[in-house]
Amino acid sequence: MATERKMERIAIYPGSFDPLTNGHLDIISRASRLFDKLIVGVLQNDAKKCLFTKEERARLISKCIGNMPNVSVQTFNGLLVDFVKQNQGIVIVKGLRAVSDYEYELQMAALNKHIDHEIDTIFLMADVQNSFLSSSVVKELLRHGGNIRGLVPEEIIDDIESLKSKL
Ligand code: PNS
Repeated sequence: MATERKMERIAIYPGSFDPLTNGHLDIISRASRLFDKLIVGVLQNDAKKCLFTKEERARLISKCIGNMPNVSVQTFNGLLVDFVKQNQGIVIVKGLRAVSDYEYELQMAALNKHIDHEIDTIFLMADVQNSFLSSSVVKELLRHGGNIRGLVPEEIIDDIESLKSKL
């Protein structure tokens, strides 16, 4: 009997992750259960001024995904669809918190589909308890001396707080 070669379903979760939040980690964990492999793609979004370099952001994510063997992290430059193709990905995963995210994400999904028709975007709804959470909120809180515990993974709190003076 011929052995059938099962194609791996590889998904890419892209973002700035400056820094990773519990909201991002929840999406990573849930997407990792839906696909054979999940690659977190970290990139420099030129529209945003980042606190961490993309290599530092990738290192912080690596510290938090030790319990998810099918998840890995990579940095990338250029077009997202090219990164997806290079990694044999079939799907882009994005998290949606509110209607306000939807308009931008719809445009991005349509644009990426226009660039490469074979790549789809799927959206996971953010957990209600993370609906207000973003990397910007974390940085804003830190800037004003607030407590970021409960908003970002415990493993990276010290790394984030050590950069407080740069904010
Ligand atoms: O976490 P972010 O900053 O909202 O993530 C945005 C990201 C990285 C998903 C988006 O900026 C992106 O896809 N950038 C890669 C460049 C690209 O492919 N742009 C769309 C076509 S011009």
